[in-house]
Amino acid sequence: MLASQLLRRSVIRVAIPRAQSQLVTPVLSTRFISFKQEDQPRIRIGSTAPNFQVATTEGKIDFHEYIGDSWAVLFSHPADFTPVCTTELGAFSQLKPEFDKRGVKLIGLSTEGVESHKDWIKDIEEVVTGGDKFNFPIIADSNKEVAFKYDMVTEADFKNLESGMVATVRSVFVIDPAKKIRLTMTYPASTGRNSAEVLRVVDALQLADKRGIATPVDWTDGQDVIIPPTVSDDAAKAKFGDFKKVKPYLRYTKLD
Ligand code: BEZ
Repeated sequence: MLASQLLRRSVIRVAIPRAQSQLVTPVLSTRFISFKQEDQPRIRIGSTAPNFQVATTEGKIDFHEYIGDSWAVLFSHPADFTPVCTTELGAFSQLKPEFDKRGVKLIGLSTEGVESHKDWIKDIEEVVTGGDKFNFPIIADSNKEVAFKYDMVTEADFKNLESGMVATVRSVFVIDPAKKIRLTMTYPASTGRNSAEVLRVVDALQLADKRGIATPVDWTDGQDVIIPPTVSDDAAKAKFGDFKKVKPYLRYTKLD
């Protein structure tokens, strides 16, 4: 196979705007995105969230600048005008005031264009939000750069990234103001997410950061929390006052 054919198999070409392309020689006027597995960032809890610049329904953004000093929830949707995603995006739009209270910015994604997203938003406002305006940006990841960087595709679609439109899975990334990945969830296309669970994990993460506690199974805001095993009984008494010792390693306390 010729070197040029090999190159074509491993990259897609993205045209850059005419104004810019006039400033460079033709050979440099194409930006390459590699979809090779070895070039894919590995995202773990604690990794820096990969940055990108992309078009959205609310204009072009630099993702890290968009996050700024806030937290962010980035979540992907298989495709525009799909039933499950319509219900999810509507639900998150209705919950946005709660995310705002916690200093969290929402941002959705699918691999279609801005105009398609905007048409779809009209449907979401009609059938889910009861006419209320949809209130956060949706990324138009038509070149699949973000889907690749955040590994938002199935095993089969990973192999199709170069060849055409792929449906993303339902990924969720909670990212903190330091741009660190704090939580990931991945659902298959056929299973809608639980919007209240996303809010709950934001509460748990922010409380753990602020008060140095952990949260037990099915915890919701206001319930007793767990004192981490790294805190001695004496330190726990000084820090939290009364606590309930069920086992030496399982201690609950109330927070005021
Ligand atoms: C969707 O609405 O996104 C969807 C529905 C069924 C299967 C896959 C995706």
